[in-house]
Amino acid sequence: MLQYYEPEKDYGTPQRRSDQSVTLSIDGVEVTVPAGTSVMRAAAEVGIKVPKLCATDSLEAFGSCRVCLVEIEGVRGSPASCTTAVVPGMIVHTQTEALEKLRRNVMELYISDHPLDCLTCPTNGDCELQDTAGELGLREVRYGLAGANHLALQKDLSNPYFTFDPAKCIVCSRCVRACDEVQGTFALTIEGRGFDSKVSAGQGEAFMDSECVSCGACVNACPTATLTENTLIELGVPEHTVVTTCAYCGVGCSFRAEMKGNTVVRMIPDKDGKANEGHACVKGRFAFGYATHKDRITRPMIRDSIDDAWRVVSWEEAIAYTAQRLRDIQGRYGRNSIGAITSSRCTNEEVYLVQKLVRSGFGNNNVDTCARVCHSPTGYGLKTTLGESAGTQTFASVDKADVVIVMGSNPTEAHPVFGSRLKKRLREGAKLIVIDPRSIELVNAPHIHADYHLAVNPGSNVAVLNALAHVIVTEGLHDAAFIEQRCDVEAFAHWMEFMRDARHSPEAMAGATGVPADQVRAAARLYAGAGNGAIYYGLGVTEHSQGSTAVMGIANLAMLTGNLGREGVGVNPMRGQNNVQGACDMGSFPHELPGYRHLSDQVTRALFEREWNVTLDPEPGMRIPNMFDAAIDGDFKGLYCQGEDVAQSDPDTQHIQAALASLECLVVQDIFLNETAKYAHVFLPGASFLEKNGTFINAERRISPVRKVMPPLSGKEDWEVTMDLANAMGSPMNYRHPAQIMDEIARLTPTFHGVSYDKIDALGSIQWPCDEQAPAGTPTMHVDEFVRGKGFFALTEYVATDERANRKFPLLLTTGRILSQYNVGAQTRRTANSAWHEEDTLEIHPFDAEERGIADGDWVGIASRAGNTVLHAQISERVKPGVVYTTFHHPLSGANVITTDNSDWATNCPEYKVTAVQATRVTEPSAWQARQRKFDHRQQQLLAEALLTESLLSGSKADIELVGGS
Ligand code: SF4
Ligand code: SF4
Ligand code: SF4
Ligand code: FES
Repeated sequence: MLQYYEPEKDYGTPQRRSDQSVTLSIDGVEVTVPAGTSVMRAAAEVGIKVPKLCATDSLEAFGSCRVCLVEIEGVRGSPASCTTAVVPGMIVHTQTEALEKLRRNVMELYISDHPLDCLTCPTNGDCELQDTAGELGLREVRYGLAGANHLALQKDLSNPYFTFDPAKCIVCSRCVRACDEVQGTFALTIEGRGFDSKVSAGQGEAFMDSECVSCGACVNACPTATLTENTLIELGVPEHTVVTTCAYCGVGCSFRAEMKGNTVVRMIPDKDGKANEGHACVKGRFAFGYATHKDRITRPMIRDSIDDAWRVVSWEEAIAYTAQRLRDIQGRYGRNSIGAITSSRCTNEEVYLVQKLVRSGFGNNNVDTCARVCHSPTGYGLKTTLGESAGTQTFASVDKADVVIVMGSNPTEAHPVFGSRLKKRLREGAKLIVIDPRSIELVNAPHIHADYHLAVNPGSNVAVLNALAHVIVTEGLHDAAFIEQRCDVEAFAHWMEFMRDARHSPEAMAGATGVPADQVRAAARLYAGAGNGAIYYGLGVTEHSQGSTAVMGIANLAMLTGNLGREGVGVNPMRGQNNVQGACDMGSFPHELPGYRHLSDQVTRALFEREWNVTLDPEPGMRIPNMFDAAIDGDFKGLYCQGEDVAQSDPDTQHIQAALASLECLVVQDIFLNETAKYAHVFLPGASFLEKNGTFINAERRISPVRKVMPPLSGKEDWEVTMDLANAMGSPMNYRHPAQIMDEIARLTPTFHGVSYDKIDALGSIQWPCDEQAPAGTPTMHVDEFVRGKGFFALTEYVATDERANRKFPLLLTTGRILSQYNVGAQTRRTANSAWHEEDTLEIHPFDAEERGIADGDWVGIASRAGNTVLHAQISERVKPGVVYTTFHHPLSGANVITTDNSDWATNCPEYKVTAVQATRVTEPSAWQARQRKFDHRQQQLLAEALLTESLLSGSKADIELVGGS
């Protein structure tokens, strides 16, 4: 929704929730608010603005500036309205002559130590200090600027995204409180006293040298131009605003894109955003510059072979060429010789269209999504046990949790806004159990210490989950009434018998898990005894050969303890990318139509056949790994890959590269020439999230709007390109706006029956199921009964992975994410976020490093049975001896050259999290890295040649600058 620029309304203090309400009178207006509300907020609720400086509604009141004074009948003096709670019958006056005088005096003191350069200040027109001085009618400053002041203090320009100009600071401490209360990093303090007091990052360090994680909460909170976004300094105050959704992680934060024409001035986290409530992380808040990076490719390109130079062509030619080549392949090799891969980075509407194109245009079901390699076990595990492939809660639910288990997930790095919310709850006293091979930040953060850290050996998740369940059942800690009422009791009895067996005890499992039995017993008792116990898990659970078993083990634990169906509890898969949930919901699995309905169901098939006017193939298609195997075998020849970079993200890179190289037609739709596109024959330029309309679904099942803030650089939104390709292949599609695609999804998918763009705009976002029974959506699932009826306890036998440490490969490698980079890094590597993470490194315990003569920063060769690569060493006690760890954000790191082809028994999700490796000190990059560098260089050359030719032909130089080497 486009709005003219206006800062969001600030009520001064946070909203209170209470069963009791209080009625009072403010300036003669009767006001009724929840008990505990401040006088300032009560006034704001009825449009009475009390001046303020140190108060803002995202922070608890502090009461330091004394600008918000009011008069209350029967109360002596002039209390601060921000720190005074409402009382029934209170009579408040906010506008009297005496108050105005007092406030003006206070303001005068502030202004006397503030540069008087408003007209040239970058935030002129968007500064609370300036506004408040104006509102108070301050015309002159009697004290002048001649006395002692802070005007000569130097700026801190160390952070790439914001500037700290202490000369403009009024020491209101909003920044310090934002960092403490909202972000939970505690990077800032007020140093010194009285006149000498000043804001300090860390121990008087530059922001970049401190603990600051660049979330921007302090910048949001600052009422002056002291903390200001560099883009605002450069571009000036915005003109209009569009509310949209972050395209990075599965938290799905809502943002106000603040614009000047078609240029984003800044992204401000939306206070009304239900997933983030006004908070953000460094990626969504600041790392949006990739959208206009010079590497963007904005013209379609084709070539006959990957050794040829690209030819820049018109959209018409590119689409016709693609359709003809794909049809030609089908003519020669059969209907099943082509397929498509969809991406969790794309919108629901885009993913839906690609699977529709495959099923109705390609005439097969060879469509799979990148969730295959991350959360497919969640789909299988939760569907089997609870009946629905989705998380059960809202993020806000964690505010009511008493004990939280975080398993194989690193929220402060991978889901930072949820991480901050969780930290807040933990600071309030909730207990924490971390199950992870590595000591993640939550184990020991400022004011937070995990009660138990079960540092499991990689690959032993099911063993530890079984051990926890064994303790609960053998010690009689389970919730018998809940099970009796809500679960399949026969399956439960069978499961009980299985789980009671001594082979599952913590003592018996200690060898496999590496966790002392007494810790497992204590953690089990803590979770089972919680009023509300909540489990959050991530790819450290799913990406294993027993990923689906572990997800079922988690659901079993929640049912066993009655921790489902209300706020504060639940089973919550933390989705890595922005639209993992949506990509799965949209039917982009080879065996399921939208809404997780199996292809073999004739009634569902008939529904789609009627709507699409086709006959659907009832046989499931190929999964991603099957497509690659078939490509190498010569049976699969054409692939349409939208928004995914399988050459970097999928395991066993050399196998993937061989498969891509054996295709006759690889079509890549992306915003950059990614690793996969280097093997492509057709490049269809994609649109970034800022250039299109659509929706994303986050980890809470929340459908949120993605709104176009600038025209697509290529001239087309991605859904239009898929539609054009479908039409060229003789499979008619005729949409004029993605809203019509959503209408079709809603018509055909029961859990989306009530969803429409109008409703999303009216409500801001909707959590599915949204249907006749729940027209405004469903925050908590499985409230009275499970989606499958009775909850099903699945047997979870622990089977050790084949990937074990041995003499040749004595270490276990596991992988994860870091805050500043995102997934394959294609976006974040093209932003200043690289200042925090320039390369992937190998974390190795000092003991293992010493044994191998490896020093911090040395090149280390890492060899597995799949391949080898070389990274710099980072000696760290975050990993235990025997375990090494790396991230996977840079293509040349080759993290996936060493991951093997092991995968989950049920879903084929790769076992990224366990690879047996050897690490040795080396002096140069690996042979693969050297080859890859050469290949990359050659492909960049071919691209540059194509763009040069095109610009010479068209006489345009500007286009050469649109694409550079990466
Ligand atoms: S930097 Fe801004 S928010 Fe922080 S104390 Fe100074 S004026 Fe207040
Ligand atoms: S940017 Fe975030 S982490 Fe850094 S000082 Fe500000 S609030 Fe703290
Ligand atoms: S990356 Fe995730 S946590 Fe960060 S702003 Fe985007 S959605 Fe929010
Ligand atoms: S706003 Fe109330 S004391 Fe500052």
